[in-house]
Amino acid sequence: MRFLIVYSTTEGHTRKIARFMEEVLQEAGHQVAIADASEEPPLPENYDAILIGGSLHAHQYQSAIAHYIREHIARLNKMPGAFFSVCLAVASDLPEEHAEAHKIADDFLHITNWKPLLVTQIAGALRYSQYDFLRRIIMKMISKKEGRETDTSKDYEYTDWNAVKQFTLDFAAKAVQEK
Ligand SMILES: Cc1cc2nc3c(=O)[nH]c(=O)nc-3n(C[C@H](O)[C@H](O)[C@H](O)COP(=O)(O)O)c2cc1C
Repeated sequence: MRFLIVYSTTEGHTRKIARFMEEVLQEAGHQVAIADASEEPPLPENYDAILIGGSLHAHQYQSAIAHYIREHIARLNKMPGAFFSVCLAVASDLPEEHAEAHKIADDFLHITNWKPLLVTQIAGALRYSQYDFLRRIIMKMISKKEGRETDTSKDYEYTDWNAVKQFTLDFAAKAVQEK
């Protein structure tokens, strides 16, 4: 099967997840192309299945994935697709944070009209080293409120890589079935 992974990232963590998914699919014997949504990604027409992902910043995904989905919606709704949402809300112990992350993803898919076979929420990273002064203070305040790490001299990853692997393999199995 030929898989295409299209992602958007602000601090690089969604790219890391997309590359990990690429490796998982390649190890399972599939052909994989991977592209940043903001750098002229390939057309979905040339692939059998697609994974699209982005990360949340101030409750929004990067506009490049919304543009890609809107531009190719007819083809996307005719092929097996998976959406992966990367954020910190799902690393929280607060159920309302999880509910909000799910609602943002649901609304995004509703607005773009894309109907992927699978959707997943992936806990992202706190990359203090990449934030400017103001962002570092804001992210430290939010982290304190939500019980995450506040030592800004380090970066932190909350991603469950086993869960990402399982999701990717589950999607590949479904995509093969659909073909
Ligand atoms: C300025 C800023 C705003 C953020 N806003 C949200 C948010 O609204 N909801 C959320 O769950 N996570 C939020 N996050 C966390 C990011 O989604 C998380 O750090 C993710 O790993 C970023 O992925 P990326 O490196 O691919 O951009 C925010 C992070 C930053 C730096």
